[in-house]
Amino acid sequence: MQQLTDPFGRSINYLRLSVTDRCDLRCFYCMPEGFKDFEVPEHWLTPDEIERLVGVMADMGLSHVRITGGEPLVRKGIEDIVGRVASMPGIQDVSLSTNATRMNKMAETLRAAGADRINVSLDTLDPERFKSITKGKVDKVVDGLAAAKAAGFDPIKINAVVMKGLNEHDMEGLLDYCIDNGFTLRMIETMPMGETGRDAIDHYVSLQDVKKRLKAKYDLIPAVNSVTGAGPARYLQVAGTDTMVGFITPMSEHFCETCNRVRLSCDGTMYMCLGQEESFSFRPLLRKGIPDDELKEALIQAIALKPERHEFTEKPEKVIRFMSMTGG
Ligand code: GTP
Ligand code: 5AD
Ligand code: SF4
Repeated sequence: MQQLTDPFGRSINYLRLSVTDRCDLRCFYCMPEGFKDFEVPEHWLTPDEIERLVGVMADMGLSHVRITGGEPLVRKGIEDIVGRVASMPGIQDVSLSTNATRMNKMAETLRAAGADRINVSLDTLDPERFKSITKGKVDKVVDGLAAAKAAGFDPIKINAVVMKGLNEHDMEGLLDYCIDNGFTLRMIETMPMGETGRDAIDHYVSLQDVKKRLKAKYDLIPAVNSVTGAGPARYLQVAGTDTMVGFITPMSEHFCETCNRVRLSCDGTMYMCLGQEESFSFRPLLRKGIPDDELKEALIQAIALKPERHEFTEKPEKVIRFMSMTGG
């Protein structure tokens, strides 16, 4: 089998599949204004085109697919896309990164379609601060999380972007909520993606400092349990509980040497690194109907463009695309 291996010897077995760049929330660090229309434009990959490309990648060793957005649940027909990816031979793990506002209505059908687990963005439980960060209502997310738990998603991880002067001191409340509900908490350092992400860098805080503060209140021990997942978080465990606390530290301690992933945006552009602009457009090839062996050649050429690492700290102005284009 032809495998996908990048120029630095890293096997690429994880695809982050963005199915929309739209969202019903407006986190100020993620997306520019003006994306309220949820119709599917002609230049986005269709479910058939997604299925074809993911199928060929699965033939080349792809085993993990994370479905992202924007907010993936605003994509019309998302259950169909999840179902097609989940039933593909070789795909072992299908997960979603979502804001959970629509989970209340969709949790059961997404589980039935074959999604195994979800990661939910939630930066604070405080309604006022949640509103100032996202323009939305925190209750909807909390209800969505309860529905997701009842539907059997496991594990459920909470993603909190930690920002100085905004939600830095809400981590304790989130951790208590995770302990009570059997969720995993992951904290994330702000990344300078697009103008919105660069604005948020003013609120940057190193998670090394947050970890020290949490250790003063909680007994955080080296992880005894493991966490299902294939991402960059490094975990500690709250002693005496099953609760895991993950730290995602692209800025203070990057993890690029273990990178296993590429990203596909909704228009069929594959981005080789979250923090770089190297890309390869698959839409024209898919629409021309090229045969599988040529699509495989194109994938090998694309992966050959993958850079060694991001340069967020050295060149924070470098990435012009917004986080919402590839959903993290
Ligand atoms: P699992 O570990 O499989 O659950 O997923 P994940 O942590 O990779 O996915 P998720 O969408 O929850 O991402 C959490 C945070 O990690 C987001 O802020 C992402 O932007 C960030 N992240 C995920 N993958 C990468 C990566 O390759 N590079 C960098 N710099 N950040 C990443
Ligand atoms: N920096 C770090 N993480 C971000 N996310 C969105 N924008 C940024 C940013 N600028 C996070 C979301 C979501 C995850 C997929 O990416 O909060 O949890
Ligand atoms: Fe991989 Fe780029 Fe993320 Fe580093 S920043 S882990 S190289 S995608």
